[in-house]
Amino acid sequence: SEQDETILRALQQNEEIVQGICDNMRNAAGTFFIGCGSSYNACLTGSYLFSKAAKLHVNPVLASEFENHEHFLTDKTLVFAVSQSGETADVLDAVNAAKRRGSRVVGIVNRDGSILARESDGQLFMNSGPEICVLSTKTYTSQVVLMEMLAYALAGKYEEGLKKIGSLYLDIYKLTSRSMREYLAKLAAILYDKRDIYLIGRGAQYATALEAALKIKEVSYIHAEAFAGGELKHGPLALIEEGVPCIVFVSSDNKSKILSNAEEIKSRGGYIIGVASEREEIFDYWIKVPEAEELNPIIQIIPMQVLAYQLAVYRGLDPDKPRNLAKSVTVT
Ligand code: G6P
Repeated sequence: SEQDETILRALQQNEEIVQGICDNMRNAAGTFFIGCGSSYNACLTGSYLFSKAAKLHVNPVLASEFENHEHFLTDKTLVFAVSQSGETADVLDAVNAAKRRGSRVVGIVNRDGSILARESDGQLFMNSGPEICVLSTKTYTSQVVLMEMLAYALAGKYEEGLKKIGSLYLDIYKLTSRSMREYLAKLAAILYDKRDIYLIGRGAQYATALEAALKIKEVSYIHAEAFAGGELKHGPLALIEEGVPCIVFVSSDNKSKILSNAEEIKSRGGYIIGVASEREEIFDYWIKVPEAEELNPIIQIIPMQVLAYQLAVYRGLDPDKPRNLAKSVTVT
């Protein structure tokens, strides 16, 4: 993994552009964040960060569902279109709808030269370099880095944010070290023949759970499904039986609540895999990550990307070329 370096590249932005985008956000009457797949999960992560750090409400919407919200668009609306490839047809359709109604469009794209970069009024670049694998990994973390950066800037803490995010470099490096990969391979050996894997989180960790589930599905073809911790009692608990694995994302700000959700699963025989900075008695398997508070969304997805990769390898699949999927989806 090169994500220790790609997060630093994502941080290389022109401050004036970032502050200008923040002003757009403060002044807009309605802000949408649209994307597909992993890019949407980054949008959802952003919505939690902006709400908490900057007390700013934004609407994360799947690009393919955006047409249902188009009637809200005016020339005061701000639309962020997030796409690694900058070519995804669902996203480009949404951008065209926004432009027809005079809304301002900011593209969060990997590189200059893509259609989305050309079509948007303002741009933020991830600078991740080409991503070859169909699954997005480093571009997802770069998108989340940009969301974090915007959240800090909106809260008037741009410089502090850059420092904090940049200092994750070593943590990310360690999370992809050989010993961590070996530890995750042991977990993959436990999980690779399971029919279902469930994942839970609260707040931004719910978005992380969705993204981790997407990675597992795309690459290992195991049914992986994420829930917000509080939703378990509204249906999903019926799925839990002896030995069903559940990955639990713990963050200092929601620790006691998510652990009590984990308890609901454990007491029905579930096998609990904790992604957390501290070992808890309830964990059957512990993936140790540093506690990075509001930056947990950057950190916690990394071992999940490694795990998804290893699940594919255990199942004899090619992690770079999942069936039925394309790197850029230019049809709606
Ligand atoms: C495809 C890929 C996904 C990706 C989605 C959005 O469906 O398989 O991994 O997240 O497109 O791609 P984009 O280039 O718009 O970020």
